Amino acid sequence: MFNRLSSFVGGAVGAWKVRSQVAYIGPPLAVVDYVSVANGLETNPGEGWSLHGIASNDRYVVRAEKQALVVAQQGLGRPEATFAALIPIRKNAAWWAMTQDERRAVFEEQSHHIRIGMKYLPPIARRLHHCRDLGMPEAFDFLTWFEYAPPHEPAFDELLAELRASEEWKYVDREVDIRLVAIER
Ligand code: HEM
Repeated sequence: MFNRLSSFVGGAVGAWKVRSQVAYIGPPLAVVDYVSVANGLETNPGEGWSLHGIASNDRYVVRAEKQALVVAQQGLGRPEATFAALIPIRKNAAWWAMTQDERRAVFEEQSHHIRIGMKYLPPIARRLHHCRDLGMPEAFDFLTWFEYAPPHEPAFDELLAELRASEEWKYVDREVDIRLVAIER
C-alpha cells in the first residue's frame, strides 16, 4: 500500500519551486517557497505543511470514459512538462452524505467533469490522490496534481474556470491553488 501513498511537503526545500499560491475557497495554507513530492509518508521537519494522499481505484468513470481516458492521457514526468499545479480540495458534508450514484450524477451528468477534462488532454497530465481513507486526520479530501508545458497554462486556467463554474464545485468548501515550476527536469 505504501507505494500508492504520496506526500507533498511544502517548505524551504524541494524539487518544485512555488510560482504562486492562492486560497481559492476557504482558509489558506502557510506560504512556502518549495514543494517536495515523495513516495510514502513524509512530514515537514520545519515550517510549512505536509499533505498526504493515496492513488486509488476509480469511483465514477464508466467503461467508455475509462477507455477514452487511457487513450488520451499522458503520464507524469514528461521532460517538457516543467510546470505543475498542486490543488488540494475538500468537499462539504452534503457531498459526502450523498450516495455514490447521486455523486456520479452531480459529477458527470450535471457537471460534465470528465467531458470537460477530456478536452484538455493530452497536454495536461493528472494524478488524483484520495485522503479520506488514510485513517489519519487530513485537511483535504483530495490532492490533485497536474503537469504541463508552460505554453499550456492558459488552457489549464480555462479548464479550471469551467470546472469551478460547475454544480460539482458548489460542494467544494476548501481549495488552494499552488502553481509550481520544476527546478530541474
Ligand atoms: C486534465 C483534465 C481532467 C480530467 C481528464 C479529469 C478527469 C477526472 C476523472 C475521470 C475523475 C474521476 C475518477 C474516478 O472515477 O474516481 C476525476 C476526479 C476528480 N477531479 Fe478531475 N479531471 C481533470 C481535471 C481536473 C481539475 C483541473 C481539477 C481541479 C483541481 C480536478 C479535480 C478532481 C477532483 C477533486 C476529483 C475527485 C472527485 C470526487 O471523487 O469527488 N480535475 N477527474
